[in-house]
Amino acid sequence: MKITLEKWPKIILALTVQAGVLVMIVCGVWLAPYFFPPPYAPIVLVLIQAVVAVLISYWVGLPRWWQWIQFLLPVGLYFGVVIEFNPLWALGVFAVLWLLFRNTFKERVPLYLTNQTTRQALKKMVKELHRTQGEVSFLDLGCGLGGNVVFMSQQRGVIKSTGVETAPIPYAFSKVYSWIGGGIIYAQDIWKTDLSHYTLVYAFLSPEPMPKLWQKVKKEMPKGSVFITNSFAVPNVDPSDIWQLSDVRETILYLYRL
Ligand SMILES: C[S@@+](CC[C@H](N)C(=O)[O-])C[C@H]1O[C@@H](n2cnc3c(N)ncnc32)[C@H](O)[C@@H]1O
Repeated sequence: MKITLEKWPKIILALTVQAGVLVMIVCGVWLAPYFFPPPYAPIVLVLIQAVVAVLISYWVGLPRWWQWIQFLLPVGLYFGVVIEFNPLWALGVFAVLWLLFRNTFKERVPLYLTNQTTRQALKKMVKELHRTQGEVSFLDLGCGLGGNVVFMSQQRGVIKSTGVETAPIPYAFSKVYSWIGGGIIYAQDIWKTDLSHYTLVYAFLSPEPMPKLWQKVKKEMPKGSVFITNSFAVPNVDPSDIWQLSDVRETILYLYRL
């Protein structure tokens, strides 16, 4: 039987599994002398911990890449202790990852970037909006390294190109990039950003925030404006248009005209 604990944050579920297996191993080592004389090689206990953690992780429905983490965590910790690895290095790596991917932990939105083909499609939309409605104000929700904001600031018909970003390293990078290339970047949360000033809003996030974001879009974006989401459609809402692009990753843009 395969059970799913979908509501649990993956990291909590993974750590609970490891802790549970550790308790089982402690009990096992306590009972084992009745059957096999000690000592028990630490590497064997570590491998039992890793393999059992992987099996339980599969059983509780953790994704495959988490099962790899479940195996590598105890094994890595063991070898870290054996070679007396300085834990400050691990702390340093964790700090950099957090500064880069903060929103992966909080919002389940990692950092990946819009490509040139998609930017050309956005440019096409700007042209259309400019022709039909006048000057365009563009917003990138979660602007990453700021590439879209800078690109849009340089397009004819764009009066304002703005991005909001909360992950520290992408924010700092995009801020400097926009000083050089154009546009405005704010260290601001998507959920605290007022969408009513924008005629073209772009999001490249993940499936997770889309239902809540759509409520915000409907409430705040002005009539005639356009919301575009890259790859992740709003569930149960028919887009006004779907653009299938011819790039390597076969990007799909979902357009919602308000
Ligand atoms: C997939 S990346 C897209 C980056 C950029 N828009 C692009 O298309 O190249 C999503 C970005 O949204 C940011 N993000 C996620 N949740 C956010 C939030 N609540 N407020 C601000 N930024 C957020 C992430 O840090 C990440 O940089």
